[in-house]
Amino acid sequence: MLETNVLDENLTLAASVLKQRLDGREPKIGLVLGSGLNPLGNDIADAVYLPYVEVPRMKTSTAEGHVGRFVCGTLGDKCVLAMQGRLHGYEGNTAQEVAFPVWLLARVGVRTLITTNAAGALNPKYQVGDFCIMSDQINFTGRNPIAAPDPANLSERFFSMKDAFDPELRAITHDVAAERGIRVQEGVYLGALGPSFETPAEIRMFRSWGADTVAMSVCEEVIAARHVGMRVLGISLVSNMGCGIEGASPTGIEVLDVAKTREADFASLVTGVIEQL
Ligand code: HPA
Repeated sequence: MLETNVLDENLTLAASVLKQRLDGREPKIGLVLGSGLNPLGNDIADAVYLPYVEVPRMKTSTAEGHVGRFVCGTLGDKCVLAMQGRLHGYEGNTAQEVAFPVWLLARVGVRTLITTNAAGALNPKYQVGDFCIMSDQINFTGRNPIAAPDPANLSERFFSMKDAFDPELRAITHDVAAERGIRVQEGVYLGALGPSFETPAEIRMFRSWGADTVAMSVCEEVIAARHVGMRVLGISLVSNMGCGIEGASPTGIEVLDVAKTREADFASLVTGVIEQL
């Protein structure tokens, strides 16, 4: 190969540090814990930790409630590698920087990614506190982590996003939720760049496009994960109604407060799904 691939070299370097910390653990399941959902990372047993600041070539979390470390250990009887806190575009990260830890998970052997966030609901049938399984996504960030020479060299540049959210994993999640009496919806997720919340006019437009939920993360991670062939499950916690719906005017504090009230069911749902994998 004549050209160097800087991203590939950076991932190799970061993976060597992460692998060393894993100390022989071989997680096949990755978990991204979003806003207000970080506490599940503390339920992981026999854990080892790696703060993002110790990972070469990786950015760190600056968002409220995002701890900013990898946690590897046992959850639902399986070895999982969790991101306790994510990287967002609104923190000033490029799409490739947001995607970096997802590619890193793949480098150390993760094959299934469960990505989670708090989201606003556009579908008037949804209630605050519901969980929503992502059936598909609309990437409204205006960015794509593969849109550069280096990521395109990691795998095929052009790839299908059909069934990006794995139908079998979605079905398992419905079954677990039904068994445990947890209210879940399934719908189309729209990812915006943020960090301003949407205007009522944007919310009406997104709804007319067929979106059911909206937030400021996930899309770039899912594109990166599908690029390298990971199976993906996406789960949102509906923390608020979208701006203007039923008079809603969301705030960051409200999102975290609602997440706190749904911590136990979130842990039960995610752990139940992991048990079935
Ligand atoms: N909009 C965007 N991001 C969000 C929201 C919302 O209403 N709720 C939680 N994250």
